[in-house]
Amino acid sequence: MSSFKAVVIRQNEAAATQSVGFESLDDADLMEGDVTVRVERSTVNYKDGLAVTGRAPVVRRFPMVPGVDAVGTVETSESALFAPGDRVLLNGWGVGETHLGAFAERARWKSDWLLPLPSGFSPDEAMAIGTAGYTAMLAVLALERHDIKPGAGPVLVTGAAGGVGSIAIALLAGLGHHVVASTGRTEEADYLKSLGAAEVIDRASLTGPPKPLARERWVGAIDAVGGATLANILSMIRYDGAVAACGMAGGLDLPGSVAPFILRGVTLYGIDSVYAPKPVRLAAWERLDRDLDRAKLARAMRRVPFDGVIEAARDIVDGKVRGRLVVEIG
Ligand SMILES: NC(=O)c1ccc[n+]([C@@H]2O[C@H](COP(=O)([O-])OP(=O)(O)OC[C@H]3O[C@@H](n4cnc5c(N)ncnc54)[C@H](OP(=O)(O)O)[C@@H]3O)[C@@H](O)[C@H]2O)c1
Repeated sequence: MSSFKAVVIRQNEAAATQSVGFESLDDADLMEGDVTVRVERSTVNYKDGLAVTGRAPVVRRFPMVPGVDAVGTVETSESALFAPGDRVLLNGWGVGETHLGAFAERARWKSDWLLPLPSGFSPDEAMAIGTAGYTAMLAVLALERHDIKPGAGPVLVTGAAGGVGSIAIALLAGLGHHVVASTGRTEEADYLKSLGAAEVIDRASLTGPPKPLARERWVGAIDAVGGATLANILSMIRYDGAVAACGMAGGLDLPGSVAPFILRGVTLYGIDSVYAPKPVRLAAWERLDRDLDRAKLARAMRRVPFDGVIEAARDIVDGKVRGRLVVEIG
């Protein structure tokens, strides 16, 4: 039995509060699974920030190791799908919520949850994409299924300076769309334009009380914010346009009206990355390999040492993180 370092969230039963810190765990602490992985890289997503701070009930089992994304090397495998030495990629499947996650030097997971690390990406690049970037790709695919083509009109991206937003801008601009980036950090306009945004707007223009219908502005949108922002966006989508909704950084509610749906034929697509089936994931990673400009990915990425991951998780829910963070675990 060997020990390893992990971030552990524990619940204080009496007060229902939680504590978080680094601990030494050993193999007996690992949960069920048929593949043991030496984790090399992870990343910090908004959900990891919610788990570490306890600001939303993301963690449903205590103690918990947070971290929803990983790249690592298989150490032992009882599965025919993977052999020791294979490089694997994990995104979601309840890891970091119901099953011990990726902010640890070792993990045991189910082989069904793992993909071979796509050959087009280094471990750092795969984690610079992570759940945020793969979700951005799922949202782009939803707009494509709606037949929103480059040149059809402007496409809005909210939460633009965040992880989903940054990768969504790079993908849409790379495909030839006219991208409008909505941000609360207008001082990041140069960064957003370097990813391909054609216009940058202040997110405050999307947070007022939503009207049933407003001036038609965008043919499509990728929304990481939710709440009044999503309701406002729906009221501003052009006839027969679509919104891919994937986030709740501004709220879980949707205080709007049915007017955009019944009077403009607007479509609202829901995006879930956590339990998306394997073929959908493989298709998204294939498209990321084909369509994501690696120089833009590098611009959106910053490295964090393992020891800094708790602070980084706190920072992301405070809106202080730009783009994507890669956590160097092993
Ligand atoms: N559906 C899924 O499967 C899935 C997968 C991944 C992520 N998500 C969700 O997508 C959202 C974004 O995730 P992320 O990892 O990209 O997080 P992130 O890096 O923190 O980005 C979120 C961005 O939203 C904006 N924002 C933050 N608080 C806001 C507020 N109160 N009102 C309006 N805008 C606000 C900020 O952008 P600006 O500073 O540019 O305004 C922030 O950078 C989160 O809600 C996350 O849970 C969902």
